[in-house]
Amino acid sequence: MKKTVSLTLATLVATAVIGCATTMAPTSMRGADVMTADKAPALKQYSEKTPGVGTPQLIARNYPTQPPMVPHNIEKYVPLTVEENACMDCHQTEEIRGQKIPQIGVSHYSKTVKAKDGKPVLEMSRFQCDSCHVPQADAPPLVESRFVGLSK
Ligand code: HEC
Ligand code: HEC
Repeated sequence: MKKTVSLTLATLVATAVIGCATTMAPTSMRGADVMTADKAPALKQYSEKTPGVGTPQLIARNYPTQPPMVPHNIEKYVPLTVEENACMDCHQTEEIRGQKIPQIGVSHYSKTVKAKDGKPVLEMSRFQCDSCHVPQADAPPLVESRFVGLSK
């Protein structure tokens, strides 16, 4: 007898829950109907800044050890090839047009290999600069964020 009552109750509750779920239309967080195909977002333009021209603009880092983001345009320098790494032409040099260039850190140099003239040699795992350092477009975040990174 007890079993029948609980079974009936369970069936009633289940019917109510499923019933509600099927009558409530899902609300989409992206503001469009669920069945509507996604629209590709507008193409964003990467920074047009030529490195070393105008005021230097370093982008604040979000956490220690983050690969700094590239504050200038890199279109002329990619893709990097075995024969040519234009990033190295500048980032191993002190300055360009009288402006200081941020140097690659010691972490980027081989700990075991040195060039014949004793100069440090780039660690090959760091050769593909743009796998870690990426240029930025002026794209506002899709949702509000109050995250504050490092001030440096
Ligand atoms: C013509 C010289 C030049 C070339 C080539 C160049 N850079 Fe730069 N880079 C600079 C200068 C100068 C700055 C300082 C910001 C500015 O003035 O644009 C800079 C800034 C940076 C920074 C920011 C460093 C920090 O501490 O925040 C990164 C990362 C960087 N470049 C990566 C690259 C990568 C990756 C490439 C190759 C795809 C490259 N750069 C090619 C000159 C150059
Ligand atoms: C495997 C990821 C990786 C690759 C590849 C890489 N970097 Fe970095 N880079 C980092 C990280 C992480 C940092 C910040 C910590 C540090 O200095 O090691 C950094 C720091 C830098 C800085 C700022 C140094 C400072 O002292 O503030 C410059 C400039 C830079 N990298 C340029 C380059 C260039 C040019 C290349 C290509 C030759 C390159 N990086 C390849 C991860 C990478």
